[in-house]
Amino acid sequence: MSTHGEQPGQNPQTGGTPGSSGTPLDPQAYWEALYGESPRWSGNVNAILARVAEDILPGTALDLGCGEGADVLWLAHRGWHAVGVDIAQGAIIRARATAEATELEEGRAQFLRSDLSVLTQERRPEELTGPFELVTASYFQSPVALDRQRILQAAASLVAPSGHLLLTSHAAAPSWADPEAWQPHDDEPGHAGHDHTHADHQHADFPTPQDELTMLSLDPHEWETLRAEVVTRTTTAPDGSPGQLDDTIVLLRRRGIPATGTR
Ligand SMILES: C[S@@+](CC[C@H](N)C(=O)[O-])C[C@H]1O[C@@H](n2cnc3c(N)ncnc32)[C@H](O)[C@@H]1O
Repeated sequence: MSTHGEQPGQNPQTGGTPGSSGTPLDPQAYWEALYGESPRWSGNVNAILARVAEDILPGTALDLGCGEGADVLWLAHRGWHAVGVDIAQGAIIRARATAEATELEEGRAQFLRSDLSVLTQERRPEELTGPFELVTASYFQSPVALDRQRILQAAASLVAPSGHLLLTSHAAAPSWADPEAWQPHDDEPGHAGHDHTHADHQHADFPTPQDELTMLSLDPHEWETLRAEVVTRTTTAPDGSPGQLDDTIVLLRRRGIPATGTR
C-alpha cells in the first residue's frame, strides 16, 4: 500500500521507537496500537503486487501481514481466492468490514487473525495449508519481534509448483523520515534487528535484494528468480512536498513438477 511513511520503527503515538515512552514491545500489542481507531493505510493495492499479479492466471493467494486487506481485496476482485493473515485484530476487523461492503463472491477474500509463526509449526489452521499459486508479503517488516526468516521460508514451502513468491520491502526509510526513528535499535529487547542474516549488514531492517535471497536460501533447482531489484518511486510526503520511496522487490517462481516420462 502507498502510505508507508512511518514504518518500520516508529511509535504510532509518539513517533519514537518501540520501547521508548511506554510503546509496547509485544508484537500484537504494538500492532494493535498502531492500527488504533481509524484506518491506517490508503486502501489502495500495492502497485508492485498489482503489476505482478496482472501477469499471472488467478488462483489461490496468501498475503502475509495483510494489514487492512487492500491487497487481498484487489486480488479477490480479479478472480483470485485470497487469504490475508495479520497479527492485529484491529486490522482484520477493518479488512473484513471492507470485504462485506463490497460485492464479492463468498470465500473469495478470507481474513485470519493469527501470528504467522504458526506457519513454522506442524499444525496450521486449515486456511493456511496451501498450496498457493501466489504468496505475497508487502512490507512484512517490524520494529518489534518478528521471526521473519522462518515465517518466509515456511511460506515459500506453501507455494504451488509454477506458483510465485513476491516480497516487497522497504529498502530505505522514506526520504522525508527522521533517520533516527528508522535506525535499528539493537539494544532493545525483542527488536527485529537481531534477526539478521548478515552480521556485517548495517541496515538489515532494510533488506537488499541479495539479503532477501540469502535469507530465503531457496534451492535454485526448484526456484527461478524473476526479479531481485530496488525500485524507487516518487510520491508525496505527508507535508505535501515531493518524496521518494525505495522498495526491495524479490519475485521468485517455483519451477513446475517435470512431466513424467521425459527422461
Ligand atoms: C508494515 S505493515 C504492512 C501491512 C500491509 N501488508 C501493507 O502493505 O500495508 C506489517 C504488517 O505485518 C503484521 N505483522 C507483524 N508481525 C506479524 C506476525 N508475527 N504475524 C502476522 N502479522 C504480523 C502487522 O500487524 C502489520 O499489519
